[in-house]
Amino acid sequence: MSGLIESKVHPFYSPTKILFGVGSASGVDEEIRLLGGRKPLIVTDPGVVKADLLDAVVKPLEASGLSFSVFSKVEPEPPARVVDEAADQFKRDACDSVIGVGGGSSLDVAKGVAVLATNQGSILDLCGMEQVKRKGVPKILMPTTAGTGSEVTRVLVITDESDNTKKVVYSIHTLADVAIVDPNLTLSMPKSVTADTGVDALVHAVETYVSANATPFSDVLAQSPIQWIAEYLPVAWAKGSNLTARYYMSLAATMAGLAFASGGLGAVHALAYPLGTEYHMPHGRSNAIMLPHVMKYNLSGSPEKYAAVAELMGKDVEGLSVREAAELAVEAVLELLEAIDISCRLRDYGIPEEDIPKLTEGGMKQSRLFVPNPRDLDEKDVRAIYEAAY
Ligand SMILES: [Fe+2]
Repeated sequence: MSGLIESKVHPFYSPTKILFGVGSASGVDEEIRLLGGRKPLIVTDPGVVKADLLDAVVKPLEASGLSFSVFSKVEPEPPARVVDEAADQFKRDACDSVIGVGGGSSLDVAKGVAVLATNQGSILDLCGMEQVKRKGVPKILMPTTAGTGSEVTRVLVITDESDNTKKVVYSIHTLADVAIVDPNLTLSMPKSVTADTGVDALVHAVETYVSANATPFSDVLAQSPIQWIAEYLPVAWAKGSNLTARYYMSLAATMAGLAFASGGLGAVHALAYPLGTEYHMPHGRSNAIMLPHVMKYNLSGSPEKYAAVAELMGKDVEGLSVREAAELAVEAVLELLEAIDISCRLRDYGIPEEDIPKLTEGGMKQSRLFVPNPRDLDEKDVRAIYEAAY
């Protein structure tokens, strides 16, 4: 693996500033002023409003006399029309900056609004690799979950309702000017959301760590998240108000985001996609189901890295062969999923066995993610992984 890394040129993407820490949300007014914003559009979803999380943003803005407008109609797996609608409100209300508050969907919509403020058309016109011509208006991204890492990536994912597919905007202009990561905003996350989003962050870290596209940056940035998630996700799940556990989960999600934004994802995300589109399963849950099965398949492609994953997840690998140690990584993931009450068997979600061919077809459509995967896959392999997951 190291020879591969040394022979490549590696990009590294990150926001201009990351303000991380307990209470950091209270600095949002100063950050918006520093960016030259006078009237931000707050982009969020009904869940954030219902959980009273908006106060953490609205109060500092009000206290410093800044006016603002709120768009709170973000939907999960956000359709393109939601981004366009929010962008219309931005213009109608004469806003000059954007603050995204929420999970990955809200942050992605906020990114879209910021670039649509300075680029013509619909968000669908900006999909693809670096299609955004002009830098958007200033934007601050504030996650209320610990998982997607969207606050630090240049990626935004939307649903094209015309053919029910996912479309992706990759652009340096969608990177946040400031990511404000305040673990306080994650304290009220329900158990299942804590579990699903937390495993998503673990998948980001593990997939990037074993990836053929791993970089010196992503290697370093993936290691600590693997360790922290193994240790603190069960604690955050068991006791949502445990600030130490929430702190390390927020840190892990943001760092894993930085890792995968520069390294890359693999077959776990590829094979999880059809579960999301076919059965509307949350992104994190579909990744959690596929993770141990894909890892088992992948072991032979990167045994040293998987052995390191086992060790990072707290397994004693002393005296074991590399292969034996690598197998313990799968065991560690299975134990973690059990501890947070996530089944990794498709049958437990009411998915019929007859759907495996359909899933296989859906997984094959994501084959661009097979390129960085540490072991090659063909249709037969994909089917076998779904069968093992069943
Ligand atoms: Fe993900």
